Amino acid sequence: MLSWFFSSKKIIGLDIGASAIKMVQLDAGKGSATLNGFGFIPTPPQSIVGGEIADPTAISNAIKSLIAELKTSRKSIAVGLWGSGVIVKKISIPRVDENVLADQIKWEAEQYIPFDIKEISLEHYVLKTSTSAEMMDILLVAAKKPLVFRLIDIITGCDLSCDVVDLSTFALANCYTFNYGKNSDVVALLDVGAQITNFAIVQDGQVLFCRDVPVGGFTFTADISREMGVSLEEAEGLKLAAFSNQQVPSEVSNVLKNTTESVAEEIQNSFNFFGATGATGAISKFLITGGASGMSGFADYLTQVTGAPNEIFDPFMRVKYSTRKFSREYIDQIRPYCAVGIGLALRKKDDS
Ligand SMILES: Nc1ncnc2c1ncn2[C@@H]1O[C@H](COP(=O)(O)OP(=O)(O)OP(=O)(O)O)[C@@H](O)[C@H]1O
Ligand SMILES: [Mg+2]
Repeated sequence: MLSWFFSSKKIIGLDIGASAIKMVQLDAGKGSATLNGFGFIPTPPQSIVGGEIADPTAISNAIKSLIAELKTSRKSIAVGLWGSGVIVKKISIPRVDENVLADQIKWEAEQYIPFDIKEISLEHYVLKTSTSAEMMDILLVAAKKPLVFRLIDIITGCDLSCDVVDLSTFALANCYTFNYGKNSDVVALLDVGAQITNFAIVQDGQVLFCRDVPVGGFTFTADISREMGVSLEEAEGLKLAAFSNQQVPSEVSNVLKNTTESVAEEIQNSFNFFGATGATGAISKFLITGGASGMSGFADYLTQVTGAPNEIFDPFMRVKYSTRKFSREYIDQIRPYCAVGIGLALRKKDDS
């Protein structure tokens, strides 16, 4: 009975991507975590369009199949939120007392957040980055309520309970801090997905800046399809062939080169924007993950334009797995798809 009680409280990380939906289940101990289950299912076609959930029923059905695949009795979900309905902004305000801070923040948010204040969920985090005694740095997080409610509806409709709604970028940062520890290096994390690149800058376990950059692997696929007049399916095949060094028409390579430059430029703009918001230190490196991090040459191109060295983000640096349950080959396969899901699965039920 007791074990049922405990297991029912354990959480599942749910990362709903435009290309694939991922579920991660961990067994968490004191400061340790072991992979217990991973589920992956292609996102139903047309169910996420332009970064928005267009077909909630299709997403629900996919979540139900993942739960069945995991054979889990857990009911509690931590889900990631992403996209243009979410805004994160660092502001500096005169230092005020903790008990009036929330009111002050609400007032400040009206000036900084371009959404109707009544229509958003607002959270704030006091950063330890301020160098002046009179000012405090605050990270404002605003999410459009309909976006949050739609996710909660989908999850509760699957007979699950939505206990944590987190930003995907924060989950990425959480996964990094768990695996790499808190340190003073300013590190940029990039999860290059299909339609979005989750981008977070982290130092000492704090998110200094984050943004969902609306580019990813699908940008390449769409460019090939448009430039060469082939279907999206064919374009995806040509892209994957090119990135695995197979022979492809030279036109494909030309498109990929141009798209690499424009996608890298979008990401570089975010690096620059972070610089403009008052960096506490130069970025020492970036860690790259996500399905589209498999694009050979892309990370090195980013290094060339940003000047920051790159490494592969390893979500299994400290997260353990049993080699009896999961082969190393399997872990290598899922490694680029796990970071956000692991960051979510590490959350506790009472985290907001
Ligand atoms: N080996 C590979 N080389 C290059 N690209 C790849 C490779 N494998 C997968 N991709 C690309 O990775 C993308 C999917 O990655 P991922 O599953 O991380 O996206 P997602 O999380 O579903 O999307 P998003 O985060 O944008 O919502 C697709 O665009 C796919 O073409
Ligand atoms: Mg993703």
